[in-house]
Amino acid sequence: MTEKLIDPFARPISYLRVSVTDRCDFRCVYCMSENMTFLPKKELLTLEELDRLCTAFVDMGVEKLRITGGEPLVRREIMTFFRAMTRHLDSGALRELTLTTNGSQLERYAQDLWDAGVRRINISLDTLDEAKFSDITRWGRLAQVLKGIDAAQAVGMRVKINVVALKGFNEDELLPITEWCAERDMDVTWIEVMPMGDIGNENRLDQYWPLKDLRARLAEHYTLTDLPESTGGPARYVRLEETGQKIGFITPLTHNFCESCNRVRLTCTGELFMCLGQEDNADLRAALRNHPEDNAPLEDAIRAAILRKPKGHDFDYSRQRLDGQMTRHMSHTGG
Ligand code: 5AD
Ligand code: SF4
Repeated sequence: MTEKLIDPFARPISYLRVSVTDRCDFRCVYCMSENMTFLPKKELLTLEELDRLCTAFVDMGVEKLRITGGEPLVRREIMTFFRAMTRHLDSGALRELTLTTNGSQLERYAQDLWDAGVRRINISLDTLDEAKFSDITRWGRLAQVLKGIDAAQAVGMRVKINVVALKGFNEDELLPITEWCAERDMDVTWIEVMPMGDIGNENRLDQYWPLKDLRARLAEHYTLTDLPESTGGPARYVRLEETGQKIGFITPLTHNFCESCNRVRLTCTGELFMCLGQEDNADLRAALRNHPEDNAPLEDAIRAAILRKPKGHDFDYSRQRLDGQMTRHMSHTGG
C-alpha cells in the first residue's frame, strides 16, 4: 500500500467521484441545453485508463468510488469497467462501489451491477408526474425509470432517490414524493439547484427553492430528527420518525461543509477537480497517456493535485448574483 492521500488541511481523501461520459439520453433543463455538443471520443479516458486511474486512487487510500456522468450507463461497455473494479472490493481495499444514474438503462443492467458488487445506487427523479417528467428531462420517459427502480430493488439494491428542488416545479410534490418513497423503503435526497454550465436561457435564480423552506414544510407533517452523520460532502440528513426514512439535503450554495470534505472529482477527460466550486484542476490524462507503462508519474500528478485542494468553495447567491458561477457542466464534472 502506498502512502495515503491527505490534503493540506489534514483531510484524508477517501472518496473519488468519476464521470465516465459527458453524454446522456436525457436533456434535463437545469443540466443541459437541447442541442448539446459532446466531446470527441479521443478526448475521453478509455476504460483501461479509467481502470488505471481508479486503481491508483484505491492504492492511495480511496475507499469509496462513485461512478457518474452524464449518464454512466450509456457509456459503451461500461459493465467491463464495473466488473474490473470488483477486484478492489474483493481485496477489501475498496469499501463501496456505487453510481448515480437517471435510471433509464437500469432495467437492463441492475443484475450486472449487483454481480459486480454494487449494493447501493442513487437514482435521479424530479417528479412522479409523467407530463412533468417529460418537460423537465425533455427526452426521458417516466415509465422507463420506474421500471429501472423496480429492477434495482428486485435484485436487492438499496435505492436512494435524488430530487433537484425546483421552485414552481416540484414544490407541490414534496409530500407525494416522500410518501411514494416511504412505501418503497427508499431514502430521498433533495438537491438545491446549482449554477452549472451554459444551459440556455433558463434563469436559475427563478428555479431556486431554498431547502430551508422545504425542510420547514416537511416539519409541518413529520417529526424530524437531525442525524449527526456526515458523509464528508454537502449533504445533511434527518430521520422522519413516522416513516423511518432518511431525508438528505444538499445545499452547496448556502451551507459550509468544506471542513470535512473527503472527496475529489474526476471528469471523463481525466481532469481532477479538487473542489466542486472552484475551477482549479489537474490534467491526469497527460500523465496516463505519456507513461503507459509507468504509474509513478501518475501518482506524482495525483499527489501534486491533492496538495492544491483548496480550503473551501466560492459559490455565493447572497447578493442575487451568481458569484463564483461555474462555467463547466455538471455532466462534465460529475454530479
Ligand atoms: N443543480 C443541481 N443538481 C443538478 N444535477 C444536474 N445538474 C444539476 C444542477 N444544475 C443533478 C442531477 C442528479 C445529480 C447527478 O446531479 O439531477 O441528481
Ligand atoms: Fe442527464 Fe442527469 Fe443531466 Fe438529466 S441531470 S441531463 S439525467 S446527466
